[in-house]
Amino acid sequence: MYADLIDFDKVGTVSADIFHSEEMYRRELSTVFARSWLFLAHESQLRTPGDFVTAMMGEDPIIVSRQRDGGIRAVLNVCRHRGMRVCRQDFGNTKRFTCSFHGWSYDNAGTLIHVPREAEGYHDRLDKSGWSLTPVTRVETYRGMIFGTWDAEAPDLIDYLDTARPALDSFLDTLGGDIELVGPMKWRIAGNWKLPAEGLGTDGYHAETTHASALQAIGGMAEPRRIFQYASAAGHAAAMIDVGVTQQVHSEIGVGPTPQGEQDNSTVAHATVFPNLSFIGYSGPLRVWQPRGPEEMEVWGWVAIPAGLDPETRRQKLTGVTLSFSSSGIFESDDSENWSEISAVGRGFAARSTPLNYQMGMGFDDPTGADIPGFDVRTGHLFNDIGARSFYTRWAQLMDGPELALAPPTPPPNLGMSAE
Ligand code: FES
Ligand SMILES: [Fe+2]
Repeated sequence: MYADLIDFDKVGTVSADIFHSEEMYRRELSTVFARSWLFLAHESQLRTPGDFVTAMMGEDPIIVSRQRDGGIRAVLNVCRHRGMRVCRQDFGNTKRFTCSFHGWSYDNAGTLIHVPREAEGYHDRLDKSGWSLTPVTRVETYRGMIFGTWDAEAPDLIDYLDTARPALDSFLDTLGGDIELVGPMKWRIAGNWKLPAEGLGTDGYHAETTHASALQAIGGMAEPRRIFQYASAAGHAAAMIDVGVTQQVHSEIGVGPTPQGEQDNSTVAHATVFPNLSFIGYSGPLRVWQPRGPEEMEVWGWVAIPAGLDPETRRQKLTGVTLSFSSSGIFESDDSENWSEISAVGRGFAARSTPLNYQMGMGFDDPTGADIPGFDVRTGHLFNDIGARSFYTRWAQLMDGPELALAPPTPPPNLGMSAE
């Protein structure tokens, strides 16, 4: 039982092994990643028919493209002939994807449209309609954000995101609702994907220590006043903060225009939508922590900015985020150091067998944020592991559930001849 690796009832621990085990990593792909809704792209990246971006669902490469009828389609970026990647660009506009191995071509809906030497090789008996690129089982959109899942039985996206919406809506609203996604910038970190997913959901605790020198350089950190975090049974977690604190922090670290608004504690500071989409409120960094093995991740980082900014404001905004949250940003490089160090020191026999402390705030829910109307979430103070505990509780539920079995989209047709 994977649930035995976490204990939030009696003591408050997580087994260090979940950040290192190869066997658990393989299972995560067919349970956690196969059954969850995963972020693919934003509609602003796909304005015109033929526009496409590439994405990842766990370790599976995906092409997301705008169709001629205006719809959005996502397919597995793996050729049906010998399994080569058919599209090797990050984005573009095209009518067809041609595999660079033997030249099979697919239209942007994923239908096989051309096979070199079809007459000589397949004697005109190849049923091309049966060899389309594998479609992502379900693709749905929430406020311009496109998600996909392999699980036909998954709840609708709107229901899946339910308890993430106070954070996600706040993120989008404070950017004006109509956003442009710039990126992605991609970089590798030798660490487990769950560490940043947990951290961006819940870990405000690290800032004073991890970012001590960066904070000293910018003149200290605002004393947290009204800040709380919430956790939901769906595994989403967020820190919510009052606008006054955010205004102060933003003017200190220079990440662009500071937010305006009432002094309330309902705006998002940082959040994770289970399992691997994270973002930081106001300044706009958006991350997908792409798993690449138990001790390796590829970070895909975008900056969400209000659509239609004038060029100078746009440039300032992107520069501000790059200097603070990017592969070389003063805050993000501090964070990455922790994640890769944990992988380096934690893979030994004794380290993997040592339970880690997730006790902070256990039994001390904070009523400050308990009044998010209509959302079934629990809240705790900034210094509380409540979000991490919900994240790993959901993780263990999925790990203990059955692996998803993906049926082939159509049974592969034969040539009407028997193989010799
Ligand atoms: S692997 Fe794609 S055409 Fe052969
Ligand atoms: Fe940090």
